[in-house]
Amino acid sequence: MLKSLFYLQYIPQAFLYSLKRDRYERYYLPKRGSESLVTPGKLLQIKPSERGFHIYFEQAELEIDFLTHDLVRLNWSPGLLPIPYAIATQDWDLVEVSLEEKEDCAIIKSDSLTIEVTVNGYVRFFNQAVEVLREELPPQWYGERLVHQAQLRSEEHIYGLGERASTLNLRAAKNPQQKPKTYQMWNYDPAGYGSGIDPMYICIPVYMGLHQAGSYLVFYENSFRAEFTFADVTTAAFAGGSLRYYMTIGEPADLIERYTQLTGRASLPPRWALGYHQSRWGYYTEAAIRQEVAAFQNNKLPLSAVHLDIDCQVAHRPFTIDPIRFPDLDGFIQELLQLGVHVIAINNPGVKFSRASNLFIEGQILNAFCKYPDGQLVIAPVWAGGKAFPDFTNPKVRLWWSRQYAYLLDIGVAGFWHDMNEPATFVSWGDRTLPQVAQHSMEGRGGNHREAHNLYGMLEAEAAYESLRQFRPEQRPFIVSRSGWAGLQRYAWTWTGDVASTWDALRQTISIIVGLGLSGIPYSGSDIGGFQGNPTAELYLRWFQMATFFTFYRTHCAISVVPRTPWTYGEPYLSILRRFLQLRDRLMPYFYTLAWETTQKGYPPVRPLFWSDWTDSQLWDVEDAFCLGDALLVCPIVQPGSDSRTIYLPKEHWYDFWNDTLIRGRQTIDLEAPLDCIPLLVKAGSILPMQDGEQLILHVYPPVSGNNEGCVYSDAGDGYGKFRLDKFYLNRSETGLEITWEQQGEFEFPYSSIQLQVHGISIQQAWIDEQEVLTPRQQIECRLFKQVRLQFN
Ligand code: GLC
Repeated sequence: MLKSLFYLQYIPQAFLYSLKRDRYERYYLPKRGSESLVTPGKLLQIKPSERGFHIYFEQAELEIDFLTHDLVRLNWSPGLLPIPYAIATQDWDLVEVSLEEKEDCAIIKSDSLTIEVTVNGYVRFFNQAVEVLREELPPQWYGERLVHQAQLRSEEHIYGLGERASTLNLRAAKNPQQKPKTYQMWNYDPAGYGSGIDPMYICIPVYMGLHQAGSYLVFYENSFRAEFTFADVTTAAFAGGSLRYYMTIGEPADLIERYTQLTGRASLPPRWALGYHQSRWGYYTEAAIRQEVAAFQNNKLPLSAVHLDIDCQVAHRPFTIDPIRFPDLDGFIQELLQLGVHVIAINNPGVKFSRASNLFIEGQILNAFCKYPDGQLVIAPVWAGGKAFPDFTNPKVRLWWSRQYAYLLDIGVAGFWHDMNEPATFVSWGDRTLPQVAQHSMEGRGGNHREAHNLYGMLEAEAAYESLRQFRPEQRPFIVSRSGWAGLQRYAWTWTGDVASTWDALRQTISIIVGLGLSGIPYSGSDIGGFQGNPTAELYLRWFQMATFFTFYRTHCAISVVPRTPWTYGEPYLSILRRFLQLRDRLMPYFYTLAWETTQKGYPPVRPLFWSDWTDSQLWDVEDAFCLGDALLVCPIVQPGSDSRTIYLPKEHWYDFWNDTLIRGRQTIDLEAPLDCIPLLVKAGSILPMQDGEQLILHVYPPVSGNNEGCVYSDAGDGYGKFRLDKFYLNRSETGLEITWEQQGEFEFPYSSIQLQVHGISIQQAWIDEQEVLTPRQQIECRLFKQVRLQFN
């Protein structure tokens, strides 16, 4: 009720804006007639180039550039080349490539990848074993539009495309007519969504194909609206731009490593960001937040950050926090920081269209806002009415915007939450965004919203990231962005937006987050309990348990629902949630080490089960469970009233986290899940680093045989100082286990003591650096050691 009243006020403006948008689009958008089909025609000539070959066809040209031995860029022209916003690495070492010309094809080879281009423009990719990984049809142009197709194998699975409320394997989803689902590439605000909705806030034209011969990844560097369908043939149809794409082959982990080498990796977040965040739309005053934080303290619940939503701003204006309702913001932020609680402020890109707004006047002077082709400002309604939209494709505008963060940073705001940056607008019909004909600078080359739309949120995040680096260089940036594109991971985390408070949405969240990770975005989470609606105590609890293992761990909800905190539902929920919050706290060394791994390899901490064994096709469709790093396998409860669930386990052996039972992999098992427990498994051979206050606890889960290794990354938790890496090597023999410790880096060991906790096997004798431990137990207190030997019964 409250919510509908809230939106009622926007109806007239939304109506007028929708009319105006349509009028401009009718007038200025090129009419789509019956453009005739153009295909490459016959191959005419091949010329060597610096990194590969330039292949000339009758009606097209194909450039093949090897960036590494297993990553190649293909560019079919004609077509408007992209501005390389997605690309982080421009300089690549030269790669040795050979060419063999045959009668009906050309064969181009590096050490690990072979590409065959036929005289008719088919392109096939082979691995070293000369198995076909992908077979592309000749591209088709219809005027500005272009269509690219590839043959899919019958068993082939497809993952990625950014944020998708679909099946994890995108190919499995069907539309209402039981035909393969078509995925839209157009960032969109699907407010209050449940499963099946498409598109969502982050669309990225990247996907991974997985089949019996191996896996590959394709990234189309094209930000125009597109449609992707995965039937017997995959079809990627773009409304404009060029067919410039990257292809890499390898195991899933290698694909993500390469893709993030190309599009960039997330930098290390401040350690506190991996803790618990509390948020709600509707705190409104400093007093309400103070009370909330006190309740966290009184209830002994760890808390890392609170978020200020638009209700804390002055009339929903960016870069403001209401000085009447937050009379001593500076002091208040310091007071919370003393308690270890960081303040995150929301920011929406729309600038109030009003001469009473300084930001608007500045933007006008700088010519910073998007305009219609006739020079009129685009004004569209969002919160608090008509807004002008900065054109983040203009470097001058990004610089101007980046300066605005400075004063909130000065008073200690720890990070920023970018919302409504698809950009979203309120409409009465049609697309909830800017008009397609809105003009953009595109770094000075010119363009319109058809090309800039999907880039908008990412470029806003870039401006913020640069700002935080410049104005607060001693601390690491923390930005959460609702929208983005390929490369967003360089600047921001994300969350899955306005999800419904339903069981269905809880389950869906798993594939969305795993899919984001497979699209290069490692840090994400969902509003715990859902944004839109009032979850039952059980739903909130189950969602909370699951989110304990996501990177972004935040409760948030809409203004129209019952305020939600870990104590809202009383006991036994409060005590259970406390245990999960504490577990998260204890897992911090593990989370932080995974965050470091992400900086090195781009791996998402939250991974699909097939990550470590893509050869087991039974894992390809598991979408109701996920791995956190290599050590943990998390099996959320996705249905009400369940006290157990089944899971098919990947190869090797697993320990039950709660009772240390050793379980063989490659079988389906049933796991108990009483209300206070989420089924959780630890891979045999892992060292799971946890903390208890100042103490580092190394949980050792012995391998069944052979060798394994693990590591712990540590540094000051923020800033850019020294670090250390503690590496552990496990060596299992018939009757014992040897643990060797290798230290790297200059940061002083940050824990005051160490405990080894050995699981699943009972210790008879133990030696630390050859000194026998008297009366050894499963927990062994120790200091820095070189080698520990354990003898089992
Ligand atoms: C959007 C966001 C949501 C936020 C609300 C008000 O719906 O997705 O998280 O609370 O706007 O700012």
